[in-house]
Amino acid sequence: MKVIIRNNAAEGSLWAAHYIADKIREKAARTDEPFVIGLCTGSTPIETYAELIRMVKAGELSFKNVISFNMDEYVGLPEEHPESYHSFMHRYLFDHIDEKPENIHILNGNAADVEAECAAYEKAIVDAGGFDLFLGGVGEDGHIAFNEPFSSLESRTRVVTLTQDTREVNARFFDGDFNKVPKQALTVGVATVLSSKEVVILAFGSKKARALKDAIEGPMSHYCTLSGLQAHPAGTIVADENSVGELKLNSYRYFKAVEEAESK
Ligand code: GLP
Repeated sequence: MKVIIRNNAAEGSLWAAHYIADKIREKAARTDEPFVIGLCTGSTPIETYAELIRMVKAGELSFKNVISFNMDEYVGLPEEHPESYHSFMHRYLFDHIDEKPENIHILNGNAADVEAECAAYEKAIVDAGGFDLFLGGVGEDGHIAFNEPFSSLESRTRVVTLTQDTREVNARFFDGDFNKVPKQALTVGVATVLSSKEVVILAFGSKKARALKDAIEGPMSHYCTLSGLQAHPAGTIVADENSVGELKLNSYRYFKAVEEAESK
């Protein structure tokens, strides 16, 4: 695992956007096969998406041969609701880039048969060739996508019940009203994320410090599902000074030194 530490969220977001853009361009330069990317929602990736949009508008990057799969969606929230992850993704990314509509995949939280929806999603990912890169965030309790504490690290796409904590944290998007936050969601599993060739997780701010401490220094455990990244051969956490505030000084120095050595 690598941890890239930047001074603040703005610098971390730029790093991530340029890293992703380089990966898309590198693949486009060597093959006609599409670049398959996993995408996330939440307040954290917004600045990364803004920089990707800027690059597309400046002609520096294209999503024409990119296929995306979002990680999660609430169950029972109409797609047109402003806080559905469908609305979020169009507002902050898809409406401003050149990705083909047929290449955009987001779980349907209103499917009549949600189990069939989840199984079809896993199959569509395989049919697309599997993920080249999965971009994720992390919840304050260390959850990745909506894989709440005690989700199996072998989990795949499925229906989940959200924890009280997550619903309280996400109430800020629903007029501060906990009761308006859906109780269930569809989410890719921990193993679905980890099936990607590469995983990049964004985590900024002191509210994420405990999650990063557990994920990076703690044991690999279903208690903190991001800790599953420890077993991945190409996992990167993009952090800022605040989100690594609870790491041991030696861990902090190690990650800084590795980055410095590799950039020479
Ligand atoms: C939700 C999403 C996660 C996201 C998390 C963090 O729970 N399902 O994918 O990582 O929120 O959100 P934020 O970036 O707003 O802190």
